[in-house]
Amino acid sequence: MASSTWRNATTEIHSGYAPSAPHRPMTVPIYNSAAYQFPDYATAAKLFALREPGYTYSRTGNPTVAVLEERAAALEGGIGAIATATGQSAVAISLLALLQGPGHLVASNKLYGGTVDLLTDTFADFGVSVSFVDPADPAAWAAAITEKTRGFLLESVSNPLITLVDLRAITEVAHAAGVPVVVDNTLATPAAYRPIDFGADVVVHSATKALAGHGSVLGGLVIDAGTFDFSDAARWPQIAAPRARYYGDSLLDRYGSKAYLMLLRSKFLHDLGPTLPAASAAAILTGIETLSLRVAKAQGNVLALTRALAAHPAVATVHHPSEHTHPDHALAARDFPRGTGCVFSFDLKDPAAVPGLVDSLRLFALAANIGDTRSLVVHPAAMTHCRLNASQLATAGIKAGTLRISAGLEDAADLVADLLGALDPLGAASTTPAATPRETINA
Ligand SMILES: Cc1ncc(COP(=O)(O)O)c(C=O)c1O
Repeated sequence: MASSTWRNATTEIHSGYAPSAPHRPMTVPIYNSAAYQFPDYATAAKLFALREPGYTYSRTGNPTVAVLEERAAALEGGIGAIATATGQSAVAISLLALLQGPGHLVASNKLYGGTVDLLTDTFADFGVSVSFVDPADPAAWAAAITEKTRGFLLESVSNPLITLVDLRAITEVAHAAGVPVVVDNTLATPAAYRPIDFGADVVVHSATKALAGHGSVLGGLVIDAGTFDFSDAARWPQIAAPRARYYGDSLLDRYGSKAYLMLLRSKFLHDLGPTLPAASAAAILTGIETLSLRVAKAQGNVLALTRALAAHPAVATVHHPSEHTHPDHALAARDFPRGTGCVFSFDLKDPAAVPGLVDSLRLFALAANIGDTRSLVVHPAAMTHCRLNASQLATAGIKAGTLRISAGLEDAADLVADLLGALDPLGAASTTPAATPRETINA
């Protein structure tokens, strides 16, 4: 069940599923089955040859997972989606499907640390080269393109400093050079921002975060806008050229605008196996039912917390676009009227106060996650981004005193009281300048 006229709050609850006979369960059933019985030999042969849609084995498709895929695609305005075991695998296979051998990518220099590991270590091992550029500078993206470039990768809202991108400007640069743009929309979620509306070709998510919203499950999603032109067979042989794997057909001839999604499912899910379990898909679907409500509530809590922090003498900087000093204050007002999600960061004037502050918080759990109902805190330089070297940390704007908050759904006054209770003993005592952290942290 789906309608293109539904607004997001309706799509979150109804898209992809309607109760059906004989039991008419209100919630999506969990099809806990590895395999599917074929009615006869001929049907089995057609399904295995990918000549007919249908389920063969849950590594490449499952009816519960399919509801999540349809709902995520509807929320993001795509033509379809592939669910994966984690956000990390969603990012990895979305890019692998664009790279035929040791190609080149252009990526934002403000990415989640795990994505940086993937690009600079694992992809490098397989000969993929990546140029990192400032997401705020479209000319830098244009200058980094080479003959081998097969994709741009960026985050709509960066983690942890909440920098934003003028996505329209970057997608124009990419499309002029025949390059697709992959946008990680994990922090914003489609309840706040839809990258496809700004020209993105592919959207990826860690569904572990605000999409699920309860911190109890891992999952990822790749959503295809279905609009990128993959028809140049010299450039995109994996999609536009005949392949032995598809009995001499090209995916483009067989599946048209769904060719990229079929490549993800029939090759990368099939060969690498980063499959989302049905029970996890059901848990994510339950979370998505309340996505808009939660994003709005978390945004209110973020604003209460950032206002309180900005006025505190122990705080050097609050990194959130609602702050007039944030570089993307105007862009946020233009492109993110529903906010940027539940994450923000702030810098303590005295980096040495970080451990004491973190240990004295009672409501903010020290946990490496975001988008939970519970409020969370991390120290990026020592935790989520600990493998970045000093210059990567400096480029990402992460200092020794930077703390990242994921605002949960608790009462705003309680959260503010907890944070100020931990900050007040620090007063304005320290005037230590905020430094690039690596050396400080390792010292
Ligand atoms: C922006 C972003 N993308 C991708 C990931 C990876 O997702 P997962 O932890 O579900 O593998 C994360 C995880 O923190 C993230 O913050």
